Amino acid sequence: MFFTFSASQPSMEYQTIAVQEEGPLGILTLNRPDALNALNRRMATEIVAALSDFEAKDAVRCVIITGSGRTFCAGADIREMADESPVDMLRSEHLRALWEKVGRFQKPIVAAISGYALGGGLELAMCCDMIVASEGTKLGQPEINIGLIPGGGGTQRLLRAVGKYKAMEMILTGSMITADEARSCGLVNKVVQQGKSLEEAKGLALEVATKSPIAISLAKKAVARAEEEGLSDGLEFERALFYLLFATKDRVEGMRAFLEKRKPDFTGE
Ligand code: CAA
Repeated sequence: MFFTFSASQPSMEYQTIAVQEEGPLGILTLNRPDALNALNRRMATEIVAALSDFEAKDAVRCVIITGSGRTFCAGADIREMADESPVDMLRSEHLRALWEKVGRFQKPIVAAISGYALGGGLELAMCCDMIVASEGTKLGQPEINIGLIPGGGGTQRLLRAVGKYKAMEMILTGSMITADEARSCGLVNKVVQQGKSLEEAKGLALEVATKSPIAISLAKKAVARAEEEGLSDGLEFERALFYLLFATKDRVEGMRAFLEKRKPDFTGE
C-alpha cells in the first residue's frame, strides 16, 4: 500500500513511511502501525532516502519524525531479525545506515513521540536533536528481554542523556520509564497532552526554522561535536557486541519466544 498526503507533494512514494512538507518543516511519519512501526529494512532505507531528500531542499529548515497509530516505534523488527546470523546483520547494514543518517543529519530534527519509544525506536528518537513526548509514552531499551543489547547507539546515547546509573537500570532490566520520568532525567524536552506531541513539535520546529539556517547548522555541529567525543569508538564497540549476540542461542530463543507470545527460557548459551 502506498501512502501519500494531499496537503503537499511528496517527492516519491513510500510504503513504510509518509512524508509531507508544511512551510519550512519536513515531516516524516513512520507508517507500519500494525507492527507498532517496527523498523524493518524497508523502513530504514526509506527513512534514509526521505532524509536525504529533505537535506537537499533549502526550503526545508527543520524536520520532524513522528509515529502513527498508537505508537512512535517499538524498535527494530524482531520478526525480520529472528533468523539473521551475525554475517547477515553485517552485510545488510540497513540499520547502520539509518543511525548514521539521522545522527549526522545537517538540519535540526525533532522527534514527536507517543505510545512506545522502545529499543531502536528510542534510539531513533535519541539520534534527533529534541524530543517532545505525549503523556502516557513509555520509553525503554528492552533488548535484554530478547537476549540482545541496544544496537543503534542506545548504550552510548542513553548514558550521555541520563547518566550511568539510570542508563544501567534501563539497559540491564529492560524496564520502561514514563514520559514524566524521562523529562525529569533529561531524556525528553517536553511532555504534552496525549495526542498533542506532533502539534507541539511543530511549534518547536517552527521556532528553530525562523533562525539563520547557517547559524542553526553550525550550532548543531558544535553541540554534536561535544557529544561525539569518544562516541565513534563506543558505537563501533557496541555494534561488534550487538552482532556477536546474533550467534547466541539465547538471542534466537528470546526472539522466538516474543513471536510465539511466551516467556523465554534463557540458558546462557
Ligand atoms: N518487531 C516486530 N514486531 C513487533 C515489534 C517489534 N519490535 N513490536 C511489536 N510488534 C508487533 C507484534 O508482534 C504484534 O504483531 P501481531 O499483531 O502480528 O502479533 C503487533 O506489533 C502489536 O504488538 P503487541 O501485540 O505485542 O502489542 P502490546 O500492546 O501487547 O505490546 C509492546 C506492546 C510492549 C511494545 C510489545 O509489542 C513489545 O514488547 N514489543 C517489542 C519491543 C522490543 O523488544 N523492542 C526492541 C527490538 S530489538 C531492537 O530494537 C534492537 C536495536 O537496538 C536496534
